[in-house]
Amino acid sequence: MNKVLVTGGAGYIGSHTAIELIKKGYEVIIVDNFSNSEPSSLDRIKKITRKDVPFIFGDLKDRNVISKIFESFNDIDTVIHFAAFKAVGESVAEPLKYYNNNILSLINLLYSMKQYNVPNLIFSSSCTVYGQPDELPVTEDTPLKPASSPYGNTKKISEDIITDFINSGNYIKSIILRYFNPVGADISGDNGELPQGIPNNLLPYITQTALGIRECLNVYGNDYDTHDGTAIRDYIHVSDLANAHIDSMRYLSNKSAPFCDIFNIGTGEGYSVLDVINSINKFLDRPLPYKIVNRRPGDVEKIWADNTKAKNTLNWFPKFNLDDMTSSSLNWEKKFRGTL
Ligand code: UFG
Repeated sequence: MNKVLVTGGAGYIGSHTAIELIKKGYEVIIVDNFSNSEPSSLDRIKKITRKDVPFIFGDLKDRNVISKIFESFNDIDTVIHFAAFKAVGESVAEPLKYYNNNILSLINLLYSMKQYNVPNLIFSSSCTVYGQPDELPVTEDTPLKPASSPYGNTKKISEDIITDFINSGNYIKSIILRYFNPVGADISGDNGELPQGIPNNLLPYITQTALGIRECLNVYGNDYDTHDGTAIRDYIHVSDLANAHIDSMRYLSNKSAPFCDIFNIGTGEGYSVLDVINSINKFLDRPLPYKIVNRRPGDVEKIWADNTKAKNTLNWFPKFNLDDMTSSSLNWEKKFRGTL
């Protein structure tokens, strides 16, 4: 069975992926510097899986950190690389922080993978690389638009770095996954998203509002060209997303798999902000308080995935619907805050 290094494994998507990997019998090693996560995340992984996961505290901007891991665990077969900054607004305010962290970490990782003959990489990219596409849904061949934030640009540049590196000598094989909007929580309610400070993203803001931690949700714009005027996204349950990494690993182990391939990971369904509110309202005693405010600068109007390629090639099928996503997020928030 493969031994997998999960960078950023204490984070939201990383921890859910570690859980799915361990459940399926993979050996997992986590490296994280807790820049946007907490040590308690490791306890939650242990609670759900009943397994101790080897953990290395470290920052991938230091290449020695990665080299030491590959030396200590000399048969790592796959790296799943989540470790990166991801706040769009912060990246506009502090672009160098984003380029330095997200790009340098990846370059260090690729150098070390080559040096230590680690053959497989799965990389977290984002549908942000599509910008506002001219046609929907987006396929992997939809032309990319210039990134609307330094964060988005780091994902675009990272995709190019990986592709160029592979084309230069086939040292590794890689799958690039373009995530749509990951939401939801482990079905146990024992692991979920834990943003630091005021949440930027919709679901954690909604669940915190539902519990009275925030007064009211601001809905950014109701004058978009959509069925109810609010912006549309393709929300994907984080555990479905986690399993896409495992299906990608299986695919990479197939000798006929190309050296580099890209997949959209979304459900293929677009939902508006009001659709999401209507969904969570099914699980609340009183309707979620919200008000319509101006559009958020940089937001795209609507995007959803054509996920045919992931279904046909990776044999990956999302299982959870929107109500599963909102109810699992709420369940996690309640359990975490001790109100369940
Ligand atoms: N929204 C609100 N109120 C909020 C938060 C969000 O109305 O308080 C709306 C946004 O305007 C948007 C939708 O909810 O229409 C989703 O917003 P998120 O912030 O949850 O997600 P984004 O689509 O903006 O961003 C996500 C990821 C990014 C990624 C981007 C790619 O968080 O990392 O998708 O489109 F780059």
